[in-house]
Amino acid sequence: MTVLKEVRQQPHISNEVYKNSSYHQGLIKRSLSYLSSGYPIHFTGPSGIGKTTLALHIAKQRKRPVLLLNGNKALSNEDLIGAFTGYTSNKVKDNFIRTVYKTEENLTESWSEGRLLEAVKKGYTVVYDEFTRSQPETNNLFLSILEEKILPLYGTKQKESYVRVHPEFSVIFTSNPAEYAGVFRSQDALLDRMITLPLEQMDEKAEIAAVSSKTGIPFQEAGAIVKFVSKVREFCETQEHGQGPSLRSSIMIADLAQRSEIPIDGGDETFQQLCMDVTAFPLQTCLEKKDLSEIKKKLLTECKKIKVGE
Ligand SMILES: Nc1ncnc2c1ncn2[C@@H]1O[C@H](COP(=O)(O)OP(=O)(O)O)[C@@H](O)[C@H]1O
Ligand SMILES: [Mg+2]
Repeated sequence: MTVLKEVRQQPHISNEVYKNSSYHQGLIKRSLSYLSSGYPIHFTGPSGIGKTTLALHIAKQRKRPVLLLNGNKALSNEDLIGAFTGYTSNKVKDNFIRTVYKTEENLTESWSEGRLLEAVKKGYTVVYDEFTRSQPETNNLFLSILEEKILPLYGTKQKESYVRVHPEFSVIFTSNPAEYAGVFRSQDALLDRMITLPLEQMDEKAEIAAVSSKTGIPFQEAGAIVKFVSKVREFCETQEHGQGPSLRSSIMIADLAQRSEIPIDGGDETFQQLCMDVTAFPLQTCLEKKDLSEIKKKLLTECKKIKVGE
């Protein structure tokens, strides 16, 4: 099964945040310079911190075609390099002498090229999202790409045994450190060959800009939601099983309030319910005491403080 797709970019969404954040601007500038010097980069951090969005934003700046690859355990070398997908046959029937049949069959295997092979040959920028979810055997391909600058074609019955990596080819990896402890441990050799940049949580201003540009709600309302979610995050006692509600929670509240015409107002019961539905579970995962009714009580008190326009 293949999970490769060309990226359809959302052109303006991420810019609003990055252009006003010196942290992101610096990071983008350094990343572009590492990539153009031939070094792959790797953004790591918890879910919802903005890794994929940033990786795609940077990839787009390189002015090369972008290929988005999603790591998963079913991703195979065949998906990446290519495979013979079956036979096409050519039949010739000779009925010249009626009683004698002459049948000639030409079988040709049809080759379907994998997306990584195309990217390597033509110098695309690959965003390999959540790469640690793939099997080490699959990721080993990247070892040769990064180290020897070749993509081996073993097992494919191709005439050449490898292809050379195009000089403009580059890779941006992303991963979530909480998943390293998963099944596939042996990514260390690969990690050793990239520049790993832990992504910091957006500051409040950047988060407000992200929520506002992503959902289209006014800045002031986005601000009220982001402040509430940051406050909820502060309740967290342990980061072991989660980081509390992420930027995604703020976006969800803003988006749902907008779609269902719920007023962003702590005094509104539907809004209170929305805030609790979105944040109760992520908060529960980062608390020692997991009593849901206690958690909801805490959230309700915090939500009631939300007032826009004061
Ligand atoms: N710069 C940004 N501007 C607007 N929205 C953003 C920005 N960065 C992230 N987001 C939004 O925040 C959410 C989480 O971002 P994402 O990149 O998917 O995080 P991660 O890959 O770390 O889980 C997504 O809905 C994404 O669209
Ligand atoms: Mg992601």
